[in-house]
Amino acid sequence: MPIVPTSAIGAKFIGWGTSLPEKIITNDDLSKTLDTSDEWIRERTGIERRHVGGTTASLSIESGRKAIQMAGIDPLTIDALVLSTTTPDRTVPATSATVQHGLGLRCGAFDVNAACSGFVYALVVGHGLVAMGMRRILVIGTDTLSRITDWSDRNTAVLFADGSGAAIIDAVSGPGHLLGWDFDADGSLEDLLYAEIGGTLHMEGKEVFRRAVRIMVDSAEKSLKASGLTSNEIDLVVPHQANLRIIEAACKRLDIPMSKTAIILQDTGNTSSATIPLALFDAADHGRIKSGDNVLLVGFGAGMTAASAVIKWNQS
Ligand code: ACO
Repeated sequence: MPIVPTSAIGAKFIGWGTSLPEKIITNDDLSKTLDTSDEWIRERTGIERRHVGGTTASLSIESGRKAIQMAGIDPLTIDALVLSTTTPDRTVPATSATVQHGLGLRCGAFDVNAACSGFVYALVVGHGLVAMGMRRILVIGTDTLSRITDWSDRNTAVLFADGSGAAIIDAVSGPGHLLGWDFDADGSLEDLLYAEIGGTLHMEGKEVFRRAVRIMVDSAEKSLKASGLTSNEIDLVVPHQANLRIIEAACKRLDIPMSKTAIILQDTGNTSSATIPLALFDAADHGRIKSGDNVLLVGFGAGMTAASAVIKWNQS
């Protein structure tokens, strides 16, 4: 059932930041050690290069610090930190604890893991905390997939990479910028994409592709319905950046032209929890979103999860 936010207290973005490791690996670099080519990777995925390095905590601290700086707030006024990651630095404690300390926060902190859909899950959870009375939430999406990638497996090594994006949402009186949202998961499909603890990613690429298009469209339609909007009222779609062809197929079904999508995967690869905030804030930083625009965030991932949200940019 579509979820319409009902709280009299909503939230909006007051700051954001992103972080990518310095080290860049190009498709040509990969083709030196794998039976692949720049041409194959570009044509089949849209990816040209990716950033690799750092830890989930270090990238999160960098993006979180930038978000705090942009918002111009005292870190002690943050009421909770929600970190979306599927690649925590340790099994225990949650990586959010390391990030909380690194940023000098004094607040509750916890991790959310919904694979590549995780940032949208974390963002909606942050809004839930605001509806329950908190004022200011730091939401971060970070993954270091390079640490669980088998670099000798061409099926996965050409796709995955590292990055982070962070946002601060602040309470407003009124419904805020979140117009509608949706969560989905189908655990019966978990063997399509998994990594055992201490192991590397295994993926049934073709089947993930097929399912991904379907669940992205389904989730986006539910969020649109909840928000009372149609797809042609969306000004920008920020999809999970896994494969350009998945995005093209999903947008075609949603009847949204590719000119209305935020795409960065050519430069970043699939950074899981980080793809949506990286693409969203890249678009915002480049003036592609103006006040009042309707922005659709839509992700999918292992599990097989999906999540979407419709945001009215800067709405109080
Ligand atoms: N370089 C060159 N050739 C390759 C490579 C490679 N890196 N990988 C596969 N091939 C070959 C295959 O062996 C196959 O050869 P064959 O025809 O001789 O058998 C041929 O290319 C075609 O392979 P397909 O698997 O059919 O290629 P496809 O077009 O499906 O693309 C890909 C593969 C890119 C993995 C695609 O299926 C995909 O993107 N799937 C979705 C993956 C995804 O989104 N994962 C992230 C989920 S989100 C999360 O939670 C992390």
